[in-house]
This record gives sequence, structure tokens and C-alpha cells, in this order.
Amino acid sequence: MSMSVTQQKRNDAAESSLRDLFARFESDGSAVEVNFRQLLSSDGGTSKSAHGIHPYPAKLLVNIPQFFLAAIPTVAGSALLDPFCGSGTVLYEGALAGLRPIGSDSNPLARLITQAKLTPIDREVARRQLDEVMAAYPLVSPTIPDVVNRDYWFSERISDCLGRLKTAIECSVSAQHRPVFDVSFSATVRRVSYADPRLSVPVKINPDRSARYGAKGDEVIRRLGRLAKIDVGAVFWSITNQNIQRCLELGQGFVLDQPEIFSDARSLGLADASVGLAITSPPYVGAQKYVRASSLSLGWLGLTPDCKLRPIEQQSIGREHLTAKEELAPSGTGLAEADCLLDEIVERNPLRARIAQRYLLEMRDALSELSRTMRHDGRLILVVGPNLVAGLEFPTPLFLQKIAESFGFSTQLHLIDSIDSRGLMTKRNRTAGLIQQESVFLLKRVRAGA
Ligand SMILES: C[S@@+](CC[C@H](N)C(=O)[O-])C[C@H]1O[C@@H](n2cnc3c(N)ncnc32)[C@H](O)[C@@H]1O
Repeated sequence: MSMSVTQQKRNDAAESSLRDLFARFESDGSAVEVNFRQLLSSDGGTSKSAHGIHPYPAKLLVNIPQFFLAAIPTVAGSALLDPFCGSGTVLYEGALAGLRPIGSDSNPLARLITQAKLTPIDREVARRQLDEVMAAYPLVSPTIPDVVNRDYWFSERISDCLGRLKTAIECSVSAQHRPVFDVSFSATVRRVSYADPRLSVPVKINPDRSARYGAKGDEVIRRLGRLAKIDVGAVFWSITNQNIQRCLELGQGFVLDQPEIFSDARSLGLADASVGLAITSPPYVGAQKYVRASSLSLGWLGLTPDCKLRPIEQQSIGREHLTAKEELAPSGTGLAEADCLLDEIVERNPLRARIAQRYLLEMRDALSELSRTMRHDGRLILVVGPNLVAGLEFPTPLFLQKIAESFGFSTQLHLIDSIDSRGLMTKRNRTAGLIQQESVFLLKRVRAGA
């Protein structure tokens, strides 16, 4: 893929900014404050481009991968890995930059959104299939999967409409276009449910509590009225039509028949030393409920084994529910600073201490696996924020940096960016705290891990 003059200029500017940041970091070794929105202005935006095809909690600021992809010289077609790919922000930007995207995520909805973004579509065929779905929709029988508490979240009429859309998609859409149609169906599910649209985790709108909804209270309640008459087919048509448009941009990037997306960052099906560049934002300890936020979609898409969320949650690093065996595991993380802090946390809240300990142990496994797959001299961009655990500051960036260093990475650069647009964070309880600024590390793999 040849590069346009504008792209070349943009890359030159990014390379020069990165050199400047290296110089500032080397001069005194402390983290350099940056504003990624100013460092490299985003030309795609997140709503018009494929990033807008489906909401996802804690999406990465698109300017971060765009900056590093422009600033670090790469060979066209070489691998770009995001082991915690979420909605595929990094991998999609990498594909647009001509790299071969490889990802993993424990949440099947995240894998579907990523796949939809990375699968090229044919505009005419996709539009024809959309017409066929809309023609079949009023005529077919509904396919209603086992959705947990379906009657609580959807009226009988809406369930019937969603079930008929599901049948019509299954009958009319080819394998190539299924991801973009399934993602559009999933976005429709959330749009026509009784869930409050302002929150990432589903919470049913309650008209008796309108006073608690603040300034947007009236709008939220009016939504309930609209749901009684909503035309589910029209909502689906509009979302799918827009998503087809958004996904066309990929035609200009690196295209694969079947993108490689694994399900666990701790066991990637990749050869040793096969990856030269990884960019990732791992989950936070207890800060986000990715699986619960996806629950309605997972149910309607039939992506929950035996209609249960627990098996998916068990795979998620940073989860809040531990098994009895996990709760009784011996204490210790192998990281002295973390163990000291966990001793303090255990005094305040033993369960929170266990959750944080488990998080660090599982992130250790993920970083060890990442180190195995990365080439000597490979670069890892790690984006991670601190949070509070039981009211105490939990310096996740420092801990993950130390663990990565124990697996043969050396810190080349530490940047700090404030995150005012990372959206959809949920405040778990009064002591969990929100993430206000995040660290962006550039690490280089310099030796084999411990
Ligand atoms: C901060 S989010 C990534 C967001 C992503 N960068 C985006 O822009 O959408 C972290 C992701 O890690 C995933 N995750 C948690 N445990 C995992 C595991 N064991 N293996 C792979 N992914 C996991 C979560 O499902 C979540 O999607």
C-alpha cells in the first residue's frame, strides 16, 4: 500500500513529536504530560467511522493508537497485536495503516464488534441483503433465544419483533456480512430495551424515580412512552444502513478473509517471537463490568453458554466475583510493593484485597504470554490508569510496568494523559473511584522473561 503525501507528512510530524517526548523523558526520567488529542488530531472521529458501529465500555481514545501507528515505522503487512482488543479500536486503526491485526478478548460481544470492523463488506450486496431482511421480517416466525429476564427488559411485542429480525437475518445474510448485521442487531436490542441509555450496565428506567435522573429526567421517561410504539424494524434498518456506510472505509486498509481473534490474553495461539508491535489497554481492577454491560446483546445473539453470564465473567481479568477456591488462595502477588498495599487493603476490606490480588496474578499471566509472543526489540504500548481499591490509591500503572519489566520489557517512555472522554465508566461504589488520568508506556522487549 503506497502512502499519500498527506499521510507521509503526518507520520513525519508524529515521528518528530515522539523523538521530542523521548528526549524529555530521558532528561529526568519522570512521566511526561501530553494531550493526545493535540499531539495528533484525529481525522476519523469516532462516530462517523467504524468505531461508531456499536457502543462499548471504556473504548480507547482513538488518537492514542493513531499517534503511535504514525510515529513508529512499521513494515506493511506485519503483525499488530491487541490482546485486550475490546471493540477493536487499535486493530481497526492498525488495519487502516496497512498492518495485519491480531486480537483477543474474553467477551464474545467484543470479538464480534472487532470482527465486524475488520471484515470488508460489499456495499451493493450488503444493501441488497438488508432489503431482503426487511422483506422477510414481517413474514417469518420469531426465533427467541433464552435471554435472562427477557420479560423484564422487553415488552412481548418488542421481543416478537426482535425474534423475527433474528430469523430474517439468519435466512438472508451471507457469512461475510453476518458480523455487521449481528452487530447492528445487537445495537438495536439495546436501543429498544427498557435499559437507561445513559448507563453502560443495564438499569431499567423507573418512572417512579424520575427525580433522580436529574436534568435529563424528562427525556429518559419520554423514552418509555416511545418504546410502546417504536418501530423495531425501522430502528434496525437505520442502524444497519449507517453501519454499512461506516464499514466501507476498511476497503482502503489491510484486509483479511478471517481476522485472528482469540478469546484469552493468557493463551494466545501465536508462535514465539512472532509479533513486533502490540498496543493495548488492559481491563482495570474491578472498575468496569464489561460482561454485565453486554448482557442483553449476548443473550439475544445466543453468545452466552447455557444462557449464563458467569462462565464468560470467569474468563475476565478484573472481575468482581471470585470462586470459593480463588477467595481461599494463598496471599501474595510476587510484587513487594503490591503485597504491602494489599496488606493495608485487607484490613479495610478482605474481599477487595482478594479481587485486586487475583487481578495482578492474572495480568502477570497475560504479560508473560505477551512477552513470549513478542520479538526481541518489539514495542509494547500499554495504556493503563490508576484507581482506588477500598478507598486507597491502587497504582495499577506502576504495578503493570514492574511486571512487564520482570518479563524482559524495558521502559523507553512514560506519558500521562488525562481522560475526560473515556466515557461509560461506572462508579462501582463509594470507594472504587473513577480513573482520572492514565499512563501510556512505551516498552521495548529487550531480553527473555524471568
Ligand atoms: C479497557 S477494555 C479494552 C477497550 C478497547 N481498547 C476498545 O477500544 O474498545 C479491556 C478489555 O479486556 C477484556 N478482557 C478481560 N479479560 C480478558 C482476558 N482474559 N483475555 C482477553 N481479554 C480480556 C475485556 O473484555 C475488555 O474488553
